[in-house]
Order: sequence, then structure tokens, then C-alpha cells
Amino acid sequence: MSHFQSYRFEDLEEKSLDERQFARKEDERSDGIAYQNKSAEFEQNPVDLMKQNLLKQGILVQDLTESNPTKCGLYFPKEIIATSLAHEWNSIYEPSAGGSLIAKEAVVKYYQDRFPLDKEFYNKDDFFLVASTSEAYSYILKSITNPHDSILIPNPGYPLLEHLARWELVETIPYESLEEIPDLVTETTKAILIVQPNNPTGKILSQEEIRLLKSIASKLNLAILIDEVFADYIAWCKSSQYNFVKSSEVPIFTLNGLSKICLLPSAKLSWIHLQAPNSMKETLKNRLEWLADTYLSVNGFAETVLPNVLDARKLIQNQLINRMKRNYGKLLEIIDGQFLQWTLPDGGWYVILETQISNDFEDDFCLSLLKKHHKSIQSGILYGIKSPNIVLVLSMIQKEEEFTEGLLSLKELILEFNNLNPK
Ligand SMILES: Cc1ncc(COP(=O)(O)O)c(C=O)c1O
Repeated sequence: MSHFQSYRFEDLEEKSLDERQFARKEDERSDGIAYQNKSAEFEQNPVDLMKQNLLKQGILVQDLTESNPTKCGLYFPKEIIATSLAHEWNSIYEPSAGGSLIAKEAVVKYYQDRFPLDKEFYNKDDFFLVASTSEAYSYILKSITNPHDSILIPNPGYPLLEHLARWELVETIPYESLEEIPDLVTETTKAILIVQPNNPTGKILSQEEIRLLKSIASKLNLAILIDEVFADYIAWCKSSQYNFVKSSEVPIFTLNGLSKICLLPSAKLSWIHLQAPNSMKETLKNRLEWLADTYLSVNGFAETVLPNVLDARKLIQNQLINRMKRNYGKLLEIIDGQFLQWTLPDGGWYVILETQISNDFEDDFCLSLLKKHHKSIQSGILYGIKSPNIVLVLSMIQKEEEFTEGLLSLKELILEFNNLNPK
């Protein structure tokens, strides 16, 4: 295959489909313990293997890190989609690079609703519609990087980011704090990414941190990428404020889309908002337009329903936020802070639980959870969380009964492990 070699796939090819998504993070396990999947002779992770076996036997496995809202009994009202399509669908195909006028105006309205004091700031010509937020990354990286350039990504962070960069032949440099960025930047570093609120930690940057971010970006000549897909899910368990980041000094690309705003991942509609200094704005705009015009990836059905779907977002968002609040109440009720701790997130869909069980028992813990309770949960290691103890990423969007059952199983197992392996 050497003739058809592609840098993109180096060190991924020997892994099976299931393991690829998290392959890099596992290799970088922070505690220095060699993870069994690291070797070239790839052995399947025993936890995945057991999960597959259970599923093959027809046993239902509850995923306590579930992040697909459509699997949690929450559905966007079908009638709104059906009615909008029936009344407004125009079968004449007249594609427009970066999205149709009606769709872009709907996105502008969405921002004007969110930031009513800033209505004038949002302009349809600064929005570029794409098929997904993941695709938005591809357009942005194509616009501002060359192969083998790098971008700074948050750690802990969303594991897919490394792959989104990889397909563009862009390296990722993980950063844990803004302060360390100047030491990490090289000549080929082009951008800093922030995820607001972060997936999975739920943290948003304070106003002071945003000022620092902008000054670092400006000094080091870096673009800022802001992934705000969870920004409508802020302050459900502690008070927090989200502000749209603005700057006229460096390019800022803000990404968002329907998969989280309206719990419609299948709609496949997202967007990029572009801000840039006057000297570069036209060029960047032209590049994004060029890309959009080449792929024309936005689905006309999704554009047609977008105005009504965005208008109705609160219907479904409120259901999800109320569910997360109730689930958080259950967490407080069931879990004793003595054996499990967590930091309150500013927003997002997860709470990170820190146990007092050593990382050495992580596989045993996850295997027992599967075997005894038919439940699975993702470890913080997969997201780059560093801790000597087992850290678990708990989804707050699960159905209440299932969430409660999941917590009871976790509690039972944690107490069992604590008793077997007292510190
Ligand atoms: C932080 C973050 N960004 C982007 C995405 C991808 O979003 P989309 O479904 O619009 O591609 C996800 C999906 O979960 C995410 O968590």
C-alpha cells in the first residue's frame, strides 16, 4: 500500500473501527501507565469486548455517558418540521454558497434573540452554513492552515478534535491553561481553539480569561476558534454567564449548529460566524465562500425548516435543562461527597465524577459495571483528564429513571471497590 500511503491514517490503520475514535487519547494516558491498546499488535480493549458480547447476547447496556439526545427520549416536535417543509419547500434548486438567504437570516435572528443588546453586530454576510459543526472545522482549517501546521486544542477536551485536525493534516497541541500557550506555540501554530462550555468539563472562560485569550492571540498572531455547540445549556446547576467573544484584532471563527441547539443531530445543519480585522476579512470570507461553493453541502430541506425550528428551540431546550436540573438533584441526593467528588460545571451536558479508586483498577471497575449492572461509562482519560484516580464522565441528559438507576449502580460499585482496596 506504500504507493497509496496517506499521512492521515498513520498509526490508526491497525486499530479496529470501534477503537479509533479514542485511540490517540488512550495512547497519551497521562499517568505514565502503558495502556494495553498502545502496542502495534493491537489487542481489543476488554471493556469494549465485553460490551460487544453483551450486546450480541441481546442484553441491553445502558451508556451512562450517553450524549445522543435522540436516545434519551427527547424529540424535537415533528409537526414543526413537517409543516415547515410542506408549506415552504421550494423544489427548484438554486444553491447559494454558504447558505440560502432565509436560512442565514434565521441564524442572525437566533443570535439577536440571544444577545438583544447587540442586535446590530450580527450580519448575515458573516455566516457560512455547513452540514455539521465537524465540517465547519474542516472549512476553517482549510482556510487558515497548510499541511503540518498546528492548532492549540483544550485538554481535557472532545476527542474528535484531534481527528478533525488530522484529516486536514494539521497537528494538535493540547493546552491545559491559557498561561502555558506562549510556551507551546511554534512558528507553524495558527489558531487557539476554545470550547465554550467545554466538552466534557462544562467550563466556560471568565471575562478575564477571555481578555487574556485575546491578548495572547493578538501577540502571537493566532486566530481564535470558538466551538459553542453547548452554549444554550449554561447555568443549570450554578450561575454562569456566557458572552459572545468579539475582537477586531484577530480572526475569530465561532461554530454552532442544530445538533445541540435543537437536539437535531440528523438535521445536519451548522454554521461558522466570521469576525476578522478589515485587512483580512475579505480574503477569509472569499476562502470560506470558495469552499462552501465547492461542496454545497448544506441540505435544502434543513435550510427550509431552519427558521421555524430555531424559533421553537426553547420548547426542547427547556425540557432538557429541566431534566438536567432534576438529575442533578438526584446526584446530590444519592451520592455522598465522601466517596465521589465533582466540580460544578458552568454548562454543557456532563458532570465529571472523581472517585477515590486508583486508576490501576479502571478496567476492573468498568468490567464489573458491565457484568453486574449492564452499564457502561466513559473514563476521563479518554478526554485527557489527568488524575491518579478513576474519573468518570456522567451524562446528565439521560432519562430520570435510568439516570437514578445508573447512580445507584455506580454507588454500589464504588463502595465495593473502596472496601476491597482501602487507601
Ligand atoms: C464540542 C463539540 N463540537 C462539535 C461537535 C460536533 O457537532 P456536529 O454534530 O454539529 O458535527 C460535538 C458533538 O458532540 C461536540 O461535542
